[in-house]
Amino acid sequence: MIVRKVSEQLRFPEDFLDKIVCGDALQLIRRIPDGVVDAVITDPPYGLNTEGINDTNDLTTFYAILPECWRVLKQNAFFITFFSTKLLPQLFRSNPFTYFWQIILYCPGGSVNSPIGFTKFFSCFVFKKGNPSVVKRCKDIFVDTPSKMVEPDEGYIDHPTPKPKRFMMEIVKMFTKEGDLILDPFLGSGSTAIACRLLGRHFIGFEINEKYCHLAARRLSTLTQIHKSSTPRQKVLNIPPHRHKTL
Ligand SMILES: C[S@@+](CC[C@H](N)C(=O)[O-])C[C@H]1O[C@@H](n2cnc3c(N)ncnc32)[C@H](O)[C@@H]1O
Repeated sequence: MIVRKVSEQLRFPEDFLDKIVCGDALQLIRRIPDGVVDAVITDPPYGLNTEGINDTNDLTTFYAILPECWRVLKQNAFFITFFSTKLLPQLFRSNPFTYFWQIILYCPGGSVNSPIGFTKFFSCFVFKKGNPSVVKRCKDIFVDTPSKMVEPDEGYIDHPTPKPKRFMMEIVKMFTKEGDLILDPFLGSGSTAIACRLLGRHFIGFEINEKYCHLAARRLSTLTQIHKSSTPRQKVLNIPPHRHKTL
């Protein structure tokens, strides 16, 4: 499931489809042909360096990948990205996509410093290329799992910024169809890939940090096994399996 090859050796689709490709997204994305991806759903590096250390507002990687995301996306498709509230004006600079909407993840237990005190939400921004339609109409505010870096059914996730898979599943359902191909160039702990797998979408995931590639692969494999043994009712309702405190 993890692919580790120098980018020149990578073949599309066999080395990409439903794989976690370990390496630099800026190199890897060049191996994806034009216009084959149905949606990009991502959470780019901002505020954190590749070791997860909170020391940078550097958006170089984000700006560099934007035109490549545009290239690999089909016409009439969504580009969805988490982004820092602090750096928000910079999201709209040099951005080839058209703004569509904003979705909020409210974190009752969160308390990250902000200029007015502390903040309790994440923003996920929906952009479009062309004129795509929303697949499943839904609300635009969701509530995070109670504890930071903890999934109720998995326990502690050893990554500095894991996004809740329930929330990622809502995003996937809203903006993609079954069988679609979704790219996350900054996969982290694997939440986008897990949401895709549990909802019958294909994914391509890039991650530069070897440790997080393994974490994502482990989570994906375990949750896929548990999902296979879920009851038909749980599957129909997209209820992630519970009662598994650790992986
Ligand atoms: C904000 S985190 C993503 C977290 C993810 N959404 C999750 O739920 O775990 C961004 C990730 O991008 C990775 N990253 C940073 N630069 C990268 C690059 N050039 N290519 C691929 N991955 C990169 C970091 O290691 C980090 O895991």
